[in-house]
Amino acid sequence: MIKKTDFLVIGSGIAGLSYALKVAQFGKVTIITKKQIQKTNTALAQGGVAAVFSSIDSFDLHIQDTLASGDGLCNQDVVSMVVKDGPKRIKELVKQGARFNKEGNGEYDFSLGQEGGHSAKRIVYAHDLTGKEIEDTLVKNVENHENITVLEDHIAVNLITFFSSIRSGLVVTQNENICCGAYVLNNKTGEIETFYSGVTLLATGGASKVYLYTSNPDIATGDGIAMAYRAGASVANLEFVQFHPTCLYHPEAKNFLISEAVRGEGAILIDSNGHRFMEEYTPDKELACRDVVARAIDSELKKTGAESVFLDITHKDSEFIKKRFPNIYAKCLEYGIDITKDPIPVVPAAHYMCGGVATDLNGKTDVQRLYAVGETACTGLHGANRLASNSLLEALVYAHRSYKASIEEFNAIGNKITVTMDHWDETGVIDSDEAIVVSHNWDEIRRLMWNYVGIVRSDKRLQRALRRIQNIKEEINEYYWGFKVTSDLIELRNLSTVAELIIKSALLRKESRGLHYNIGYLEKNDQEMLKHTILKKSF
Ligand code: SIN
Repeated sequence: MIKKTDFLVIGSGIAGLSYALKVAQFGKVTIITKKQIQKTNTALAQGGVAAVFSSIDSFDLHIQDTLASGDGLCNQDVVSMVVKDGPKRIKELVKQGARFNKEGNGEYDFSLGQEGGHSAKRIVYAHDLTGKEIEDTLVKNVENHENITVLEDHIAVNLITFFSSIRSGLVVTQNENICCGAYVLNNKTGEIETFYSGVTLLATGGASKVYLYTSNPDIATGDGIAMAYRAGASVANLEFVQFHPTCLYHPEAKNFLISEAVRGEGAILIDSNGHRFMEEYTPDKELACRDVVARAIDSELKKTGAESVFLDITHKDSEFIKKRFPNIYAKCLEYGIDITKDPIPVVPAAHYMCGGVATDLNGKTDVQRLYAVGETACTGLHGANRLASNSLLEALVYAHRSYKASIEEFNAIGNKITVTMDHWDETGVIDSDEAIVVSHNWDEIRRLMWNYVGIVRSDKRLQRALRRIQNIKEEINEYYWGFKVTSDLIELRNLSTVAELIIKSALLRKESRGLHYNIGYLEKNDQEMLKHTILKKSF
């Protein structure tokens, strides 16, 4: 049976839920999420949302900081639009019930944090659990909405698209690629279900799980980017992978981030001898943009052979530290590190994809009726390096704009398009008896990306990575078509697609800019044609 919905939302982080709550005023919404609704990258975001609320700050300053961080590659119209719309979207979140730290009694007298690359205090935060506060608020509203159905343990396999030909006499005058839903694996039953939707939104988050070391949870496998690419949408700027400078380094800690806000409150980076090394790299020291700080740490680690550097905030009042960073304090204590007394061992790790599915100013992709919002998307805001805390902001602003555009598109469709949709065909496929293939390939991809496509790159290593990933992909595809699909296999297939796209994008960029640093091309190259790296599948 085909399941029909007006709006299909794939992903349940800030982007998907904000959008769902808005379009639900106009039709039935189905949200599919591959784990539980709250298990998202959003829920783990510590820092906050950047927006202008202080009288000594201004839109112009926030715009300039975003452009400087993006290193010449941001779309200026997008930056200006997002920065100016930001405060409105945050006020909307407050109306929905989100509680941020405040300094005064006014509804929006927020206590504002500082992060790298920002020339003013402008980070709206909820202690060091900002993402969780936002996620919990949105989930509560979604769960109370009669027009929204949430399907947990459902993972999208592929988007369903068709080409429409508009004829004038005997001549085909237009040929549009249109998305009309998705095939979705219901993990509870093991069945693949067919969803028909008026409009589909990809809000599946990032892909940093493609790297061996990452701040992201296991779900960040680039599903939206891979599905969109397979469906014929353009993907852009995937070489710009942001490595967060300070992830906790501890054998038992998996993916735990030490927020940039800790540096914003005065923490310094030191080596094992207590030497503060950032001064040797940049006058902005610990508050330089992330690409600069991550590369400095990488260089220190390579120079000294040490396994980590240290983040030291012990000079601050211990009560202040515990109150400002309750989550980081408690987590580190679990590993025997009292951050009020001990420097925290940290290393850089893959954190955020600045590239993604290419969209216009309304979150529209180049496949009709398909939108992408949040980390899955590449809107032009982040350019070559995202400014800290601009991502939750981008998700809020684009969820709003996509909602507006989706409603228009949805109303225009009416009953004009009817499609015959094929069901998923599993004739002849059998249950896999070689799960080891999946775990082995998964591991190999992540090591390969870390070693050959990391913070510092070279064409030679990228070429080697491309050859290896193409072999691995072939193996995965063989497996994919031969056996019953499982969520592990779907994620592995997506991960391998995104890995290949990152490598190909990195090979196309013959310069060093922002997060992409290639030892063969240390300078920037401003030729117009090299500004954005767009990849699109040909059919
Ligand atoms: C952090 O708290 O350092 C992460 C925030 C972000 O990535 O914007």
